[in-house]
Amino acid sequence: MADTDGNIDSHDYYLDTPQTDTPLPLKGCNSLDWGMKNRLANIFDPKTGRTVMLAVDHGYFMGPTTGLERIDVTINPLLQYANTLMCTRGILRSTIPPTFNKGVVLRASGGPSILKEISDERIAVDMEDALRLNVAAVAVQVFIGGEFETTSVHNMTRLVDAGNRYGMPVLGVTAVGKQMARDAKYMRLATRMCAELGCTYVKTYYVEKDFDTVAAACPVPIVIAGGKKQPEIDALTMAYNAIQQGAAGVDMGRNIFQSDAPAAMIQAVSRVVHEDMVPKEAFEYYETLKNAK
Ligand code: R5P
Repeated sequence: MADTDGNIDSHDYYLDTPQTDTPLPLKGCNSLDWGMKNRLANIFDPKTGRTVMLAVDHGYFMGPTTGLERIDVTINPLLQYANTLMCTRGILRSTIPPTFNKGVVLRASGGPSILKEISDERIAVDMEDALRLNVAAVAVQVFIGGEFETTSVHNMTRLVDAGNRYGMPVLGVTAVGKQMARDAKYMRLATRMCAELGCTYVKTYYVEKDFDTVAAACPVPIVIAGGKKQPEIDALTMAYNAIQQGAAGVDMGRNIFQSDAPAAMIQAVSRVVHEDMVPKEAFEYYETLKNAK
């Protein structure tokens, strides 16, 4: 019990100062409960409302992808530069130091490998385990237009229900089948469906034409996947264009961990995302860091 001896009987209620109520700088998120918002603040930098998610979950259906053969060697040194790590629970428990104290977005769907029809996923993590791992969000793949579209949407809505029960955000990850057109019309459909059906935020791909309409039509934050490895200047340009057209960040994997200089690349991406650094400058920054050895 607090010692009350010598307690000073004077109080200042700051009667002229209205109570401050700090909103979360994320669109569509201010009706969420405190725990959900607190988790989101561990994914999105509260100062910018944006995030650099480092995606290393590829092994859940692709096995040891180039650059991810030894996550302890190649990825752990990059953690300091990311806002958030996206990975599977297997990698989290086996390889990521428990001292990592930023948000983790946990891959929560899976099933088929690249050898099979990949849209035939199921929920692959129990919400109880996600809570045990103290993660900031769970991620579920949604295959709009895919062979198992309804199953994947149902996976998502079940995770949304479980997430709402415990204050766990759900990231809907839009997956585009090889045979589908990767255009704004498709992305508007897929992202809007994820948001309407309850996802807290949505991951999509950047499209060259009309990405701003994709971002505008999605009532919750959108982040873009990096996609296959491109030259660094092109990946920085894509990130810049997405941010300028309304994305709240990137969830980037191969364009970081398959770069010639992953640490330099993630720092350059971070400046594009959080400081609106233009691609040319960001590329020069990347080159400077890369050569400073
Ligand atoms: C697919 O395996 C995952 O959803 C990745 O997290 C996502 O595709 C982002 O990684 P990348 O930037 O390599 O496309």
